Amino acid sequence: MANDNDDIRRRIRTIPDFPKPGILFRDITTLLLDAEGLRLTIERMAEKVEGKIDLVAGIEARGFLFGAALAVKLGTGVLLIRKDGKLPGATIAEDYALEYGTDRIAIHADACAPGARVLLVDDLIATGGTARAAVRLLRKAGAEVTQAAFVVDLPELGGADALRGEGIAVNALVA
Ligand code: PRP
Ligand code: HPA
Repeated sequence: MANDNDDIRRRIRTIPDFPKPGILFRDITTLLLDAEGLRLTIERMAEKVEGKIDLVAGIEARGFLFGAALAVKLGTGVLLIRKDGKLPGATIAEDYALEYGTDRIAIHADACAPGARVLLVDDLIATGGTARAAVRLLRKAGAEVTQAAFVVDLPELGGADALRGEGIAVNALVA
C-alpha cells in the first residue's frame, strides 16, 4: 500500500497511566491540533467510505469532531449520539456494559428517516461496547448501518471484530 498512515500515527500521542495506572492512553488531541494531520485524517476516512451514505452519526464526544468534519466532506448532515440525558427532544436509548457497571447513549427519536444509510464515526474503538450500542440504537431508529469509521483501533481489545460480527464493515486508519 502506498501509505500506511504513519503520518497520522505519529501525530497521535500516547500518555501512560491515564485514566488508570497501567493504561496507555492514545491521545488524538495532538492530531486535532495539527492542521495537516486533521486534513489528512478526514481525507483518508472519506476515501474508505463505500457507496452513497445519507447521514454521518458521531459518538460523543470526540466522534463529534471527526464525524462533523467527515460529514462536510461527504456532503451529509451529522446525527449526534449523546450520553443519555443531554438531548432536549424525545429520545430512544441503549445501554452498554462498562468495565464496572453500565452506561447509556441516546439519539433523538426523529433524527433519521427509516432506511437512511448511516455511517457511524468515532475517534477510537476499544472493546466496541460503545459502537455496538450505537449500531443497535441506529437500527432501532430504522437506519441502515453497514459501515463504521474510526481513527484508531485497539485490536487486542476485540471491538472491531465484534462489530464486524454484527454486519458492519469497519475501517480504522491506524491500529
Ligand atoms: C471513548 C472513545 C469511544 C469509546 C471506545 O469515549 O472515544 O467512544 O471510549 O471504547 P469502547 O470501544 O471500549 O466502547 P469515552 O467513553 O471515553 O467518552 P468521551 O469521548 O466523551 O471522552
Ligand atoms: N484513547 C482514547 N480513548 C480510549 C482509549 C484510548 O487509549 N481507550 C479507550 N477509550
